[in-house]
Amino acid sequence: MPQDSTALRLDGQGKPLWLALELTYRCPLKCSWCSNPLDFDDYAERELSTEEWCRVMREARALGALQIGFTGGEPLQRRDLEQLVAYAEQIGLYTNLITSGVGLTDERLLGLKQAGLRQIQLSMQSTDAALTDELVAAKAHQLKLDAARRIKALGMPMVLNMPVGRQNIGQVGAMIEYAAELGAEYLELANLQYYNWALINRDELMPTLAALREAEAVVQAWREKLGKRMAIYYVIPDYYEGRPKACMNGWGAIHLTIAPDGVAMPCQESRSVPGLDFVSVRERPLDWIWNESPLFRKYRGLDWLPEPCRSCDEREKDFGGCRCQAFLLTGDAANTDPACDRSPHHHLMQAAVHSATKPLRFRKPLVKRVAGVMSTAFMED
Ligand code: SF4
Ligand code: FES
Repeated sequence: MPQDSTALRLDGQGKPLWLALELTYRCPLKCSWCSNPLDFDDYAERELSTEEWCRVMREARALGALQIGFTGGEPLQRRDLEQLVAYAEQIGLYTNLITSGVGLTDERLLGLKQAGLRQIQLSMQSTDAALTDELVAAKAHQLKLDAARRIKALGMPMVLNMPVGRQNIGQVGAMIEYAAELGAEYLELANLQYYNWALINRDELMPTLAALREAEAVVQAWREKLGKRMAIYYVIPDYYEGRPKACMNGWGAIHLTIAPDGVAMPCQESRSVPGLDFVSVRERPLDWIWNESPLFRKYRGLDWLPEPCRSCDEREKDFGGCRCQAFLLTGDAANTDPACDRSPHHHLMQAAVHSATKPLRFRKPLVKRVAGVMSTAFMED
């Protein structure tokens, strides 16, 4: 095992292979599981300019980035998206657009295709219009469906992403059929991860283990039926598995996320961990941030691992799990992820699984400013 954790390369050979640009947190939808920060509405005036995003892409490419995901919020809210995609293509990045489909008109889709966009990941919540619209708190189902048809009419590769929670897990079979009819190459049935908005709604969103197993059986039957026609991704969430996910394939290993205001992060949730020293691409070159910054070195590799991970034979499989989840559930990001049944905090996961249901809280601006006083709106609901 390497002695210097910061020298450990995992499988990215020290390169930020996967670059995620959170172009904006603005979005026409109000999903109750949104991964954006709770104070998302504070970022709109601090978004990077087109030139700044291009510089980020250039610097990331020089560091070895290969894949880029334009995400958000809703990246289509940026009028310069086509320009950014064209630049990414020009410098040799494989481009992905991660979108709700709302705003993906014929004109914009054609513009993106002409800019060289390689792949679109479109989110769909349900095959049922009323349920979709209820889940995203907007009239969005038909717009999403239109977007899916447009993407396939232009012959572009499409990943359908279905965020799966208690409200729509019964629709998994119907969604597989729907996705195959629409011509998706890949369907990702993404069991929700409980951070930010999803965490405050966890009691209401989390499906039962029985429902998850039932959906797994449905998925298996469809996999056999469809063969190679459409790949289907589905894994039981770590709340139920007894082992954590190898989150981000390790902190600072291959993933680099840039927030709308230019702050560089090892994962999109890391800003929920207090006490970390975040640096913006407006302040420092990306090379320094990735290779030298205390933030990216803090949990990189294996040497920082606490017990029981330090002496565990699975540490090179999951790197002790997710730092953000460890903080959110135990109050210390350096703890073993409580998803692991060897963690002394595993009871917190079990308690969450048994928790009572509560009403959903839809994404909306939380911070009210009244005569300079700030308060969180959801506390007042
Ligand atoms: Fe992974 Fe740590 Fe659990 Fe071992 S003890 S399985 S390394 S999280
Ligand atoms: Fe941040 Fe897992 S989400 S390390």
